[in-house]
Amino acid sequence: MALQRTFSIIKPDATRRNLTGQINAVLENAGLRIIAQKRLHLTKAQAEAFYAVHKERPFYNDLVAFMTSGPVVVQVLEGEDAVAKNRDVMGATNPKEAAEGTIRKSFAENIEANSVHGSDSAENAAIEIAFFFAGIEIVG
Ligand code: PPS
Repeated sequence: MALQRTFSIIKPDATRRNLTGQINAVLENAGLRIIAQKRLHLTKAQAEAFYAVHKERPFYNDLVAFMTSGPVVVQVLEGEDAVAKNRDVMGATNPKEAAEGTIRKSFAENIEANSVHGSDSAENAAIEIAFFFAGIEIVG
């Protein structure tokens, strides 16, 4: 498969515990290259817009509150089959169900404070990358 890009967020529970470097090492060791990265503190409006697809879900308000509770690191990752590879290395949404060696198994606190977000398809990756990054900021 050709090189593909995906979008990743290191969430506030992980930045709070100073885990950015350790999470980046897991991503890089899995063969993903960080070709754009910046640290932001999301506003409520930005988090609501980013998670608009989950607006009707019962945890939406909690998710928005959590994602605005501290800094995040937003990233573009590049690699072979990057969307699936990143989902594999992230592990299951609920860390209790995540496989050994995955980021969520190693670092996540619970289903909300689960350390990372990753795009679930190439189409959503393109949308999510465009939400946060200008083309000039992505250096592949
Ligand atoms: S996923 O990763 O999109 O397949 O998982 P999904 O279950 O659809 O969850 C979508 C996002 O909502 C978060 N989530 C929750 N937040 C707070 N409380 C509860 N109970 C909860 N359940 C799921 C989950 O971490 C996903 O966030 P992102 O940022 O997309 O990974």
